Amino acid sequence: MFENIHANKTYKTLYNGNWIQSTTKNTIQIKSPANNCLVGEIQSMNKEDIDKTIINSQCAQKTWAQTPMNKRAEILHKAAVLLEKNINEISYIIQLEVGKNKSSAISEVKRTADFIKFTADEGKHLKGETIGGENFPGFSKNKISLVTKIPIGIVLAISPFNYPINLSTSKIAPALIAGNSVLFKPATQGAISGLYLAEIFNAAGIPKGVLNTVTGKSSEIGDYIVTHPDINFINFTGSTKVGTHIAKIAGMVPMMMELGGKDAAIVLKDADLDDAAKDIVTGAYNYSGQRCTAVKRVLVINSIADELIAKMNPLINNLKVGSPFEDADIIPLINSKNADYVQQLIDDALNKGAKLIIGNKRTDNLLYPTLLDNVNTNMRIAWEEPFGPVLPIIRVNDLNEAINIANASEYGLQSSVFTKDINNAFLVADKLQVGTVQVNNQPERGPDHFPFSGVKASGMGTQGIRYSIDAMTSRKAVILNLSNN
Ligand code: NAP
Ligand code: G3H
Repeated sequence: MFENIHANKTYKTLYNGNWIQSTTKNTIQIKSPANNCLVGEIQSMNKEDIDKTIINSQCAQKTWAQTPMNKRAEILHKAAVLLEKNINEISYIIQLEVGKNKSSAISEVKRTADFIKFTADEGKHLKGETIGGENFPGFSKNKISLVTKIPIGIVLAISPFNYPINLSTSKIAPALIAGNSVLFKPATQGAISGLYLAEIFNAAGIPKGVLNTVTGKSSEIGDYIVTHPDINFINFTGSTKVGTHIAKIAGMVPMMMELGGKDAAIVLKDADLDDAAKDIVTGAYNYSGQRCTAVKRVLVINSIADELIAKMNPLINNLKVGSPFEDADIIPLINSKNADYVQQLIDDALNKGAKLIIGNKRTDNLLYPTLLDNVNTNMRIAWEEPFGPVLPIIRVNDLNEAINIANASEYGLQSSVFTKDINNAFLVADKLQVGTVQVNNQPERGPDHFPFSGVKASGMGTQGIRYSIDAMTSRKAVILNLSNN
């Protein structure tokens, strides 16, 4: 079903329901991080292309906003079915393009189909409210506010490379069900997967122009789209650096920002260390640590640290290192710039006295899983987000020291606490400055209808199906003023 979207691997862009070339006719090559082969080429759009696309999105949104919710939900359900039907082809593209292993790529697509179905159903429960005037001093029940939730207009959806289908859909589907049109700008590395996704919605019957795509170099068009006066909402997931930049230049446009993290796993004395070790190892090294919710530091009470490390060591040794096509756990990182950065953090820690427990081996972008003990707060790895398979262990004396170090981070996405003591679990949860605290589990975003938010440099706004729909609608009040008799 994807024959329209490319010609000899040169992918087009979705404009008004049709797949077209950019006016520049320039393309960008996308190579696989797994084997460096050419995956395809994408259109390098310019500012004129963007202006034309935004006019089209604006026009299409007006009709879409009038389309009954039931009809919108029906189209989304069709999209979910089509996604499931094409799971093999799409998950293969994810493996090729962003180097995710086969089982994780399949589970990303499956999870996304479920996300779309849930969103379609949730839309049918979108409710307004009535508020009586008499609730406020000096007013009577003759004044009634009828509040409805209405679409915002054009949502600019900008997604990162690491979940090219799921983190794109988590913006597109809630925006669409709410009656907005979407201008979808995928990460350049991840764009081909994103274009497949756009065709899924297109083939399901999303009307022409309601979903359009933008691809191109962010250095050329990034600032232009985010500052475009006709964009009504920016829904962004990516690094704190880019997110902060967008927030600074975009002006008075509502936005949702899901940014970087430095999730801590706090392990207390009475934790079940077998379970904690399993969760921490999976949480830190899955997809080579290229997840916002990866465990990015362990804060463990000194007296149990040796035992925890002894339990983690064989689990790390058992991780399969290799190619995404062999379903390896540890795969080449997305690019060599990121791999170099992770290596710098490892080198800095080792130079400052950290103890290497395992790893610090590299072949090109493929970094072996690395565990560092005796990391202290003078080392960069204690604070910076690596987005790679390296985990620092910071030993602490007590729970308060763990909380203090956890909160000293600029980030505040998620954190975990491992303990059998419910009181300590709640005490830590209460004190941690993060969007979510996991008790006895690794940090993770799902299930996707749960609220997911970051505080401090980890973002603003709350994702999660109902929360995302709510964020991408505005409140409109019609006030009835009844006469006294
Ligand atoms: P990134 O480099 O910040 O890129 C994210 C997106 O922003 C890409 O689509 C990128 O396009 C685009 N972009 C870059 N500069 C732009 C500009 N000036 N204007 C508009 N768009 C611009 O992030 P990434 O490397 O893809 O993803 C990794 C980061 O995302 C990590 O920090 C991770 O923690 C974070 N993340 C957070 C969450 C969360 O929910 N909190 C989830 C996933 C990932 P190009 O690709 O064309 O540059
Ligand atoms: O990379 C960030 C994603 O939002 C993480 O999602 O916890 O399901 O892997 P996940």
